[in-house]
Amino acid sequence: MTRQAKLGDAILVVDDNEDIRKQIRWGLSKEPYEILLASDADEALRLFSRKWPQVVALDLGLPPNEDGTQEGFRCLRKMLELAPRAKVVVITGKADRKWALQAIDAGAYDFYEKPLDLGELRVIINRALHVHSLESENRRRHKAPPSPNEQYGIVGNSPAMLQILQTIVKVAGSDLPVFILGESGTGKELIARAVHMASMRANGPLVAVNCGAIPGALLESELFGHERGAFTGAHSQVRGKAEYADRGTLFLDEIAELPPEMQVKLLRFLQEKSFQRVGGRKDIHVDIRVVSATNRDLARRIADGTFREDLYYRINGVIIRLPPLRERGSDTEMLANHFLEHFGKAAGKPELRFSPGTLESMRAYRWPGNVRELENKISRAVIMASGKVIEPEDLALDAGTPDPGDGPSPLSANTLREARELVEKDLVESTVRQCDGNISKAAKTLGVSRPTLYDLIRKHRLVS
Ligand SMILES: Nc1ncnc2c1ncn2[C@@H]1O[C@H](COP(=O)(O)OP(=O)(O)OP(=O)(O)O)[C@@H](O)[C@H]1O
Ligand SMILES: [Mg+2]
Repeated sequence: MTRQAKLGDAILVVDDNEDIRKQIRWGLSKEPYEILLASDADEALRLFSRKWPQVVALDLGLPPNEDGTQEGFRCLRKMLELAPRAKVVVITGKADRKWALQAIDAGAYDFYEKPLDLGELRVIINRALHVHSLESENRRRHKAPPSPNEQYGIVGNSPAMLQILQTIVKVAGSDLPVFILGESGTGKELIARAVHMASMRANGPLVAVNCGAIPGALLESELFGHERGAFTGAHSQVRGKAEYADRGTLFLDEIAELPPEMQVKLLRFLQEKSFQRVGGRKDIHVDIRVVSATNRDLARRIADGTFREDLYYRINGVIIRLPPLRERGSDTEMLANHFLEHFGKAAGKPELRFSPGTLESMRAYRWPGNVRELENKISRAVIMASGKVIEPEDLALDAGTPDPGDGPSPLSANTLREARELVEKDLVESTVRQCDGNISKAAKTLGVSRPTLYDLIRKHRLVS
């Protein structure tokens, strides 16, 4: 039995004949879906990319364009290009069977011959809606459920990573400070986020401070804020990150880079859970959990006196050591497939696979830049791959030690353009998704006008 159409469904009727449009609107007026009407291809495409109707009833015999283009076919092709899952029912004249079959060949869902019988058309449209909803439901069901190897976005099932996941769960119920150690690009920030998300503070803020990126004098104000007039240029009172992190987690990234005077101040803050803004006298109390991270050998810094031992004991309630990627066995392949799926989809190349040679070279490679390097290399390879398979040369793994003075390989203008397009597409797609498809909101978030956003959506063929 066909499902009942439901509110929220929309169908688009495209016909240059006003009487037919009216007739169809009248004939379907009792149905719960929204009926959109268009009299020509341009209007139809505009409405289509604005409302994304599930079903379209399209008059294939729209008058041809000035340059002789068959507008009905143009409209059909464009719609299916924009939304391959849309169900387009083409409506043709009695003598146009050949056209109708051509349209089916081009991807139309069904055809219907004039003269119109509204009862029949209603059945066809409802069936198309039904099929569309079944397909969506199917896709939803077959989307792999989050695997146990992919919690908090952490991919991997090597023993070391499973143990780290266990640690995250173990410390979730406590406020123990967590100290994350690992080479650059091993996923320290990702783990910090997971520690926060798993904890009782997940509804509170996660505030990150990069202790290495901010010069010492500014760092104090960054962390603790300042009062108006505290120093030249302090025109108003500013709250620091410690204050923003209240009831949440404060992530002190690259903590080994903390200058000595800030180490003292941080230690005091961690002991007392309170601080004063720069230039202020009031003690401000906050309720925070501290997670810190470094890729440096802190033991050596303690030994040579550049990192305070007492501070070290304050931050390392629990240590999480992230192994380098080359020590994670089959995680490399799992992560490679994870990134390939992501970037392949984003680039409109979902069918891309690795060749056996590429898999082999990934296994043999040392991955000095760890997961970040793997992610970057795959995002590039997806762009470079010309066929359906990623070959070793697309991945361009550096062989052996780089030559002295060897910088990053220069990107060609073409690659750069493609990379930009990819970033743009990714950004538009994720923003629209985060705004639940609300175009006005997404346009605002992206800082563009609604028409510009529609153009971007069309350009990148972003349709659910
Ligand atoms: N296990 C993982 N599963 C999925 N993605 C990962 C994993 N580990 C790292 N990544 C991804 O790799 C990239 C680098 O990770 P992240 O920034 O957390 O590393 P990092 O150790 O903080 O690096 P750095 O020392 O350079 O700051 C990010 O895009 C992150 O999402
Ligand atoms: Mg980091």
